[in-house]
Amino acid sequence: MKKFSNDNEKYFAGRVMDAQQRTAGRNLKRAKQKLDSFNELEKPAENRQISFDFFELKRSGNDVLKVKGIQKKFENGIVIGPVSFEIQRGDNFLISGKNGSGKTTIINMILDAYKNKNNESIIFGSNVFLGYLPQNLNYGSEDEKFYDYFLRETNLGETEARKVLNYLGLKSEDIFKKILKLSPGQRSRGKIAIMMANNPNFLILDEPTNNLDMETVEALEKALESYKGTILFISHDRYFIEKMKINKEFKI
Ligand SMILES: Nc1ncnc2c1ncn2[C@@H]1O[C@H](COP(=O)(O)OP(=O)(O)O)[C@@H](O)[C@H]1O
Ligand SMILES: [Mg+2]
Repeated sequence: MKKFSNDNEKYFAGRVMDAQQRTAGRNLKRAKQKLDSFNELEKPAENRQISFDFFELKRSGNDVLKVKGIQKKFENGIVIGPVSFEIQRGDNFLISGKNGSGKTTIINMILDAYKNKNNESIIFGSNVFLGYLPQNLNYGSEDEKFYDYFLRETNLGETEARKVLNYLGLKSEDIFKKILKLSPGQRSRGKIAIMMANNPNFLILDEPTNNLDMETVEALEKALESYKGTILFISHDRYFIEKMKINKEFKI
């Protein structure tokens, strides 16, 4: 069975590692896991969660998003853009560029247009349901039981809720705790679970593997591997980018 342990330690270690070091670390860990698996062949695998079928996604139109010459001028004189690109259903679309080049600004403009539905230069296709993984893991109600928060944020029934949470390595002994008692890794996996449980057919992820411990990164990768929708993401994590099998890239 997959274990999620030492979240704290890995979380803080992860923060000081740059993406390159993390990639090297993960390759090393994978090699070690392979080696370990030779020694564990006789162990029963009945507890292992092999696959997970996400709920049937509501299909969006072919055109998911059109961004036409958008630009942001900050008061300090910094100008981002103009930026244009198009995203179609099923794309794994990477926005790349140096730190400070304006990637987050572009994503924020897109999120804002989705909320306010009135932007002529940022056009969403039909039946696009957006899911966004926030970088800050603020739950806003630390004193509440995680499970109550999860049910409220997702409208899932008990069986489906437990299935999603279990898939992300959140067990009974964790989910009935108050949010403030969760480890950083559990908090992030909780947010990933909420995002996936709401069944979006278009995901926007801004450097999702930053600040995540290794187990959580792997849980996220596993969830995204079986994801059938469209993904727009920013990342510097070469290992993650490789996993995501991008088919389009916009360099800013
Ligand atoms: N609210 C703001 N006011 C002024 N400048 C900003 C603001 N937000 C971002 N910037 C500047 O805009 C540039 C792009 O920022 P950002 O979109 O966060 O870049 P990236 O995500 O690619 O690292 C940076 O130079 C940043 O300092
Ligand atoms: Mg950014």
